[in-house]
Amino acid sequence: MQGTAELKNAKLPVIKTELPGPNARNVVAHDDKYISPSYTRPYPLVISRGKGAMIEDVDGNIFLDFNAGVAVCSTGHSHPYVVDAIKKQVDEFLHICSADFYYSNLPKLAEKLSQLTPGEHNKKVHFGNSGAEAVESAIKLAMYSTRRQKLIAFFGSFHGRTLGALSLTASKARQREGYGRQALDVTHIPYANCYRCPYNLTPESCGALESKGPHCARVIEEQLFRTTVPAEECAAIVVEPIQGEGGYVVPPASFLHTLKEIARRHGILIIADEVQSGFGRTGKMYASEHFDFVPDIITSAKGIASGLPLSATIAGEDLMTWKPGAHASTFGGNPVAIAASLATIELLENGLIENAAKMGEYLLEGLKALMDKHPIIGDVRGKGLMIGIELVKDRVTKEPLHDAMIQTEIECFKRGLITLGCGASTVRLSPPLVIDKNHCDFAIKTIDEALAVVSRGVVADTGC
Ligand SMILES: Cc1ncc(COP(=O)(O)O)c(C=O)c1O
Repeated sequence: MQGTAELKNAKLPVIKTELPGPNARNVVAHDDKYISPSYTRPYPLVISRGKGAMIEDVDGNIFLDFNAGVAVCSTGHSHPYVVDAIKKQVDEFLHICSADFYYSNLPKLAEKLSQLTPGEHNKKVHFGNSGAEAVESAIKLAMYSTRRQKLIAFFGSFHGRTLGALSLTASKARQREGYGRQALDVTHIPYANCYRCPYNLTPESCGALESKGPHCARVIEEQLFRTTVPAEECAAIVVEPIQGEGGYVVPPASFLHTLKEIARRHGILIIADEVQSGFGRTGKMYASEHFDFVPDIITSAKGIASGLPLSATIAGEDLMTWKPGAHASTFGGNPVAIAASLATIELLENGLIENAAKMGEYLLEGLKALMDKHPIIGDVRGKGLMIGIELVKDRVTKEPLHDAMIQTEIECFKRGLITLGCGASTVRLSPPLVIDKNHCDFAIKTIDEALAVVSRGVVADTGC
């Protein structure tokens, strides 16, 4: 119990043992014996408890969590307000299949989501348990309502690993290896990654700054519809307003608007996958708001319930008109998760979204300043607390430094900072939205130290 008090008062990391410590080593060995080897753990963090932005491992080491269980613990670990809401619900009832019976918090949260998602129109909500499930619901709704089957998605995108969602995912070949052909008819095209323009253009030369919009969006109408995807057979374009697993890539606003214009001209729906970018993470409730973008269908999960499994697929009431029985699940909209989500929204609206915007700016500025010291930083980008640091061999060739990304995560871990990679070589920062300036300063200092160590290795390995 001493650990709990210490954790409660901890403002910054305290590393007391070698890492992993003896207890952590035991858990890792046990895990190796029984847990699916398909999981990907970059370093041996073995958590025993968490509070706010801090977590304690099984050996009493305290870390600053700049990952939040992959952008999930939005209000920090075990926020007392959320825990209280969960406890109250647990005392009432744990489950009633919301696809078959009613309870009051379900429409209460749905109404809130209808108001919080972009667009003034009334919307309806289908609840699930995970991001992939939300994406499955969105695809099914798009196919059902258009009676079309083809989909367009983007390289680098991540939409989940169930077979339907996996057909959209184009993040890493490893995620598809061994599973045969795509379950769904999806055509992938390059995402609007201006740092690495797939067409070797610039925002000035690609049309992004003109009314015609960027080439990477126009290619759908100018190339795809003429060659491989008959527009009248296409149900939806599925897009992350800020690409997550693909490397925390922020597109120009005109990319999303051009996609929407093209979609409108051909009766195609736009699904915005906001599983990672939604729920306050970017300093707005949904990342789409940064671009004044109003999608037809939005998927939401991860931070939606501060750590309990819940997801939502949200669409205009004119669109979500499928018949009873068309789609449902036993656990989707679990009462405990819904209670946690309602409490999460209150906290987000009462300061945490604002904090994410403020801390995000502060962090981004501090990290950009590191570019002067570390030539291996190719780009620092993001919105709010969705920030990526892309590592490259040199700033001209932009050759990704994948191993350096992993080494940076490990060096940060050794110093008490939890991060995770994304894309080919991007260090991702997705802390809980409760962090303060001291946390940001510690993270910047630690990343600085980690990059100094890693850069020495890069120089030794490559002579660069
Ligand atoms: C944008 C996006 N969509 C969908 C998913 C899948 O979510 P889950 O892992 O909860 O199924 C993720 C997970 O990282 C994601 O980032």
